[in-house]
Amino acid sequence: MKLTQEQKSFVEDLLSRMTLDEKIGQMNQESPSIVGGFDVPFSELIEMMTDGRISQEEFGRIMANATQDFHEDEIRAGLVGSMMVNDPRKNNELQKIAVEESRLGIPLIIGFDVIHGFRSVFPIAIAEACSFDDALFEETARMAAAESRAHGINWNFAPMIDAARDSRWGRVSEGPGEDPFLGSRFARAKIRGLQNDRSSPLNYVAACTKHYVAYGACESGRDYNTVSMSVSNLYNVYLPAFRAAMDEGAATVMAAFNDLNGVPCTVNRWLLREVLKKDFGLEGFVVSDANAIRECVTHGIAADDRDAGVQAALAGMDMDMGTHIYKDFLKAEVEKGTVPMTVIDEAVRRILSVKVWLGLFENPYVPEALIEAYEKSLPEKHVALCRRAAEESMVLLKNEGGILPLRRGQKISLVGRLADDANEVCGAWAMAWKPEDCVSILTGLKEAGADVCYYPCGGPEGDINLEEADRACLEGDVIVAVVGETDAMSGEASSKAEISLPGGQRALLERLLQSGKPVVTVLMNGRPLALGWEAEHMPAILEAWHLGIRMGDAVAAALLGDVNPAGKLSSSFPSVTGQCPVYYNHPSTGRPGSKSKFTSRYLDAPWDSLFPFGHGLSYTSFTYEDLRVGERGEELEIAIRLKNTGEREGTEIAQLYMQDVTASLVRPVKELKDYCRVTLSPGEEREIRFTLKKKDMGFYDNAGRYLLEDGLFRLFVGTSSRDCLMQEIELKF
Ligand code: GLC
Repeated sequence: MKLTQEQKSFVEDLLSRMTLDEKIGQMNQESPSIVGGFDVPFSELIEMMTDGRISQEEFGRIMANATQDFHEDEIRAGLVGSMMVNDPRKNNELQKIAVEESRLGIPLIIGFDVIHGFRSVFPIAIAEACSFDDALFEETARMAAAESRAHGINWNFAPMIDAARDSRWGRVSEGPGEDPFLGSRFARAKIRGLQNDRSSPLNYVAACTKHYVAYGACESGRDYNTVSMSVSNLYNVYLPAFRAAMDEGAATVMAAFNDLNGVPCTVNRWLLREVLKKDFGLEGFVVSDANAIRECVTHGIAADDRDAGVQAALAGMDMDMGTHIYKDFLKAEVEKGTVPMTVIDEAVRRILSVKVWLGLFENPYVPEALIEAYEKSLPEKHVALCRRAAEESMVLLKNEGGILPLRRGQKISLVGRLADDANEVCGAWAMAWKPEDCVSILTGLKEAGADVCYYPCGGPEGDINLEEADRACLEGDVIVAVVGETDAMSGEASSKAEISLPGGQRALLERLLQSGKPVVTVLMNGRPLALGWEAEHMPAILEAWHLGIRMGDAVAAALLGDVNPAGKLSSSFPSVTGQCPVYYNHPSTGRPGSKSKFTSRYLDAPWDSLFPFGHGLSYTSFTYEDLRVGERGEELEIAIRLKNTGEREGTEIAQLYMQDVTASLVRPVKELKDYCRVTLSPGEEREIRFTLKKKDMGFYDNAGRYLLEDGLFRLFVGTSSRDCLMQEIELKF
């Protein structure tokens, strides 16, 4: 995000004409408040429904009779800078009040959670990241931006780029997995897609990279839990994606709920002012997460709301999401001198800069024609992109005996409630999909012309009908079992202490196996699952995640062989939950895990992941040969020969890793440093080349200093983080 000199002057002039109330108004974000129809605060009503004091039906009835307060009067008075609404006509209405009825006519920045698409929902991020396709990451983000603007949303609370190594945490579904390099490439591509299409004022939005920072390291994988880590770990694992996003010009950042080493990110001056704004160069603004300023009292870092508001403002938190604390307390604190006017001016300058950069002063409204266009069917190119993204995001985990792809003419017994539930294909944080756009796996198979009969047999919740499973086994030549999680089992506030297949789904798989017929397992899930038993017993496993509106088409195409799966895991899978957190880029330790007793291992489970980062099979096969590493000035040249040794065309994602073998801090046994997608015909061989800049081979120490240290390095190239060729090289920097 860069402003012209003229835009900067506009901001300064506007700022100079604002009252203190209007300035603080810009720092205040509102959501529609539910009012009427009940005589307790809305938060209390939610609690009552959650703890069963009122039923879901009663809650629904109350909501049906309630109205929403869109804060029109406060907007008119210039006391609201941002709203969170996704209805285009309501957004135009609110924008009109701000622009035409408030004293200075400052438009609203209107934000919404568009994490993996708006109405055209593409795969959840952990799945899309498995494509290792930067062009795809960018293209889907660009589509989301255009759809957002068509609904009056000019600010996406995306991308979520939290590195996450513990799959008990439900929000692993929302981010690009465990690796900082893949996460950085994902972040850059998403920022470009959301922000860079300036061909029309309605094609781009402000991105909001989140959650800053290290939210994915919450202790025990329990959401909102405390985070403690070394500075070097923070800089080497959790900050890189945010640094990349800032380099790419991300307009805004959302602070994370968690504390970091005892200081909540929301009031963490070092994180917000020193690292993010000064070192990383954020040009736009920081917004708190929902209610997070008030929660600093609960954290125990602030005595009361006023104290929390003062700490947040002084720490560099520019906008308050939803607590009204800035609106209620900042004016008095400025007048008392506890919060200098310069702090207010800096925050408002940043907020106005983003609004100017968005072109909101020239184009605050959504044309009616554009609104109507989206009320009809989705543009065909959007549907096609959702399907392609779904196809590229699937990972073939196992395929013993080549059961997959299925043969045309085979009668398929399709089993599992998820297979016919189009409401589950979009996954967590999909808020605007329409049922008519969503395709279930059953529909996908039928539309692909497969000979399929369907037996629900149950799913992630409730009982499993084993008798129905027996009938399914009698009917089909091959059984396809769709098992996994509902969309509510991952995402925010969805941590789980046990991440094996939920409900009786394992018992269902066992029963199907007893038939002696070939059984294909299709996973629909929002997190890596603990699949030790399944990997041992199930002959074929296709990881299909929550792939978005066209999931059914994509899975059917993969099962029937019209698509050759090429995805690679963006996160490691454990055998059992007790291994969490488990990840590939770990230090060696002095006693690396092995079969020997006195090594870093478990008595009752494997020590390493079941399926490692970067793992993914194909319907064809590839070989890697002749790895060569050479030095050329300030770069390493790495080359390898890749061959398709199978019978059909396939795409391979070749991965480059490195190891700094001896350093002043222990370093990971492998670190991803590049990757490339290569499509080869049967028998085709190609030389694959990587260039690695020596300056990118360093690491951060516990003072946050970046170090490049002479010594022995290992370079790896292969088909996964576990299956690689290796060459050593001595380097002097
Ligand atoms: C939520 C999430 C955040 C989201 C925000 C607004 O609590 O933590 O990711 O953008 O609130 O919905």
